[in-house]
Amino acid sequence: MAILKIARMGHPVLRAVAAPVADPTAPEIQQLIRDMTETLADSGGVGLAATQVHVPLRLLIFHVPASRSGTGADMPLRALINPVLTPIGEEQVTGWEGCLSVPGLRGTVPRYTKIRLTALDAEGAAIDEILEGFPARVLQHEADHLDGRLYPSRVENFSSFGYNEELDRYPMDII
Ligand code: NI
Repeated sequence: MAILKIARMGHPVLRAVAAPVADPTAPEIQQLIRDMTETLADSGGVGLAATQVHVPLRLLIFHVPASRSGTGADMPLRALINPVLTPIGEEQVTGWEGCLSVPGLRGTVPRYTKIRLTALDAEGAAIDEILEGFPARVLQHEADHLDGRLYPSRVENFSSFGYNEELDRYPMDII
């Protein structure tokens, strides 16, 4: 296992459109998932895309604590390979986001409230499920990474974009 270096905004790997994973069960993919899991645990985030650790492949990991899952239960960490997200309905909600590749900052971003997720899991089995609320937001953020997109490019109102320390000191409502 290894803690991997996380690319920061400005590095070209974060602008790359990632390539599909050919074989989710390949040893190098399994090793990457283990290393990304350790990297995410070390960093304290909720999600990490392979592009953020300089690997331009369509793979991400995420987890959601019970306090934010919407169901009251923890969503344990899982890997999603070649994920495809499809919005269900038009409804969007604006909420706070931060990113390990844009350290120290957060901003407000509109995301679809409800999405359908299709992907392969770490064993190569098909996933097909519906996600809502914060888990849906996390997935949209992480899937954007696989298309070379960072959340600041989706911020619509920059008056709520700022440093965590200042926003913690001067809390503001989402506008
Ligand atoms: Ni991110």
